[in-house]
Amino acid sequence: MSMPRKDVIVACDFGSRAEALDFLGMFGEDRPFVKIGMELFYAEGPDMVRALKARGHRIFLDLKLHDIPNTVRRSMAVLSALDVDICNVHAAGTAEMMRAALEGLVRPDGSRPLLIAVTQLTSTSEERMHSDLLIDRPMPEVVRHYARTARDAGLDGVVCSPLEAGDVHRCCGQGFLAVTPGVRFAEGGAGDQVRVATPARARELGSDLIVVGRPITRAADPVAAWKRCVREFLG
Ligand code: C5P
Repeated sequence: MSMPRKDVIVACDFGSRAEALDFLGMFGEDRPFVKIGMELFYAEGPDMVRALKARGHRIFLDLKLHDIPNTVRRSMAVLSALDVDICNVHAAGTAEMMRAALEGLVRPDGSRPLLIAVTQLTSTSEERMHSDLLIDRPMPEVVRHYARTARDAGLDGVVCSPLEAGDVHRCCGQGFLAVTPGVRFAEGGAGDQVRVATPARARELGSDLIVVGRPITRAADPVAAWKRCVREFLG
């Protein structure tokens, strides 16, 4: 996939194909960029990806691979054949694992999905990172380091908080994608997310793609919430 335009990716965090299709059916002729995560993929498998691809959605397959390089290479080859637009890994899997992931993604015709790496989950606070992961550096430094490692391994970008998007661009270049979950409307609760920003603030901070789940999927009017996100993010 070529570098995407700024956009809102809707996290389709549902437990079944029926729920996901009911939800997307509300969008009529619109085809939002969607994210399929572990819940939906584990429930419905590759057919779910094929079904949404056939409907014309661009797809970020958010399975956050993190395993030994050989396993990741071989698994990525399977995912790449599904013709998704973006895949991801955990940067914590090391540069060698990220290079293996890239190798696995290349299709017979030479094309491949974009590959991005999770730096630190947006639900992880700096305190938790210190106490649970024994990473004792400040969060921005950790995110910058993981982003540089991902860039040097040849990846296309990272998943980080909107709060870190500017930093990522400064250290890795404007063309290196900052894909940012942790997006909340000003009046909404954060839930389990910690490092959050509004869509408008994410734009100011330089996010390339925002990933929005519950503020859209749990809204009384999901389509209105999606349109509001797009309006606030694209300005
Ligand atoms: O509902 P909410 O807007 O918090 O959804 C955010 C989505 O982004 C979830 O599907 C979550 O798995 C994903 N995500 C995240 N933080 C990351 C990577 C992915 O929240 N670092």
